[in-house]
Amino acid sequence: MGTDDHDRIEAAARALRDGDLVILPTETVYGLAADATNARAVARLYEAKGRPAFNPLIAHVADVAAARRIARFDPRAERLAGRFWPGPLTLVLPAIEGGVCDLTRAGLDTVAVRAPSHPTAAAVLKAFGGPVAAPSANRSGRPSPTTFADAMEETGATAALGLDGGACAVGLESTVVALLDEARLLRPGAVTRAAIEAVIGPLAEAEADARRSPGRLARHYAPNAPVRLEAASPRPGEAWLAFGHAPAGEGVWNLSPSGDLTEAAANLFAFLRAADRARPTAIAVAPIPVEGLGEAINDRLRRAAGFVG
Ligand code: TXA
Ligand code: MG
Repeated sequence: MGTDDHDRIEAAARALRDGDLVILPTETVYGLAADATNARAVARLYEAKGRPAFNPLIAHVADVAAARRIARFDPRAERLAGRFWPGPLTLVLPAIEGGVCDLTRAGLDTVAVRAPSHPTAAAVLKAFGGPVAAPSANRSGRPSPTTFADAMEETGATAALGLDGGACAVGLESTVVALLDEARLLRPGAVTRAAIEAVIGPLAEAEADARRSPGRLARHYAPNAPVRLEAASPRPGEAWLAFGHAPAGEGVWNLSPSGDLTEAAANLFAFLRAADRARPTAIAVAPIPVEGLGEAINDRLRRAAGFVG
């Protein structure tokens, strides 16, 4: 990174220390970041997002050593962090007293931690030195931003500084796994269930109680237009989110012409936004296979359509 980048990173770390908000690129989606130990800064985050106060935030850290200062690691956590960090996996663990403020945890005695791999996020976390609370930079209930422009449009006005890290390589939020009693999948995401189960064995399902991971609330990630799932083809007036071989044209966004789920994940939120901007009567979405990353893609689509998961 050049000196300009270095200056921007230092400015971001300073803004966080001052209790200001920062638009932060990660490999999954853009985050709106604040010092996770500063309750006033975190309160401003909730306000900026218009987020229900019971929704806890992910504490982002530079590495496993920093994570161990705020969360209690068991052998399963060590193995998962060793395999997937830095990267798009969030672990919910027992919180260490005083590690992050109560508001970051929304009053729970557990804390969600992740070490992102995006070089800009990693550099800011290293320069800042402490845990950073960073929900996706969308306003509550809207699709997560995967480009700098989308992030600025959503919550940029509330931030002291925005860092442009390009388009997010993954495009879907991190997978959230709770390691409290049984290992539990709270939110399907960028690391597939199969990849996690290969390291620690079978994952239990999230409990029906959505408050354990409110990212699973229905009608999350929603565009303005209604969303029609499993559509064979678009009706007149509808935008079309295709998958696999399909004719191109106006009002058509193909998540992956070659039927590749990684490409579809990276395009999902940006295309939902683009389709929504065309002000269609609805956004019709082609069926997406459920294996691998398809689990997380279908989860976000059901939420965009307003179905309880
Ligand atoms: O990829 C990501 O995870 C992005 C980037 C910016 O890192 N962040 C993100 O944050 O998606 P957010 O706040 O939009 O989603 C955090 C998810 C929510 O579903 C929340 O309920 C869950 O993590 N979560 C956080 N702390 C938790 C806890 N203590 N127990 C259970 N779920 C928790
Ligand atoms: Mg979010």
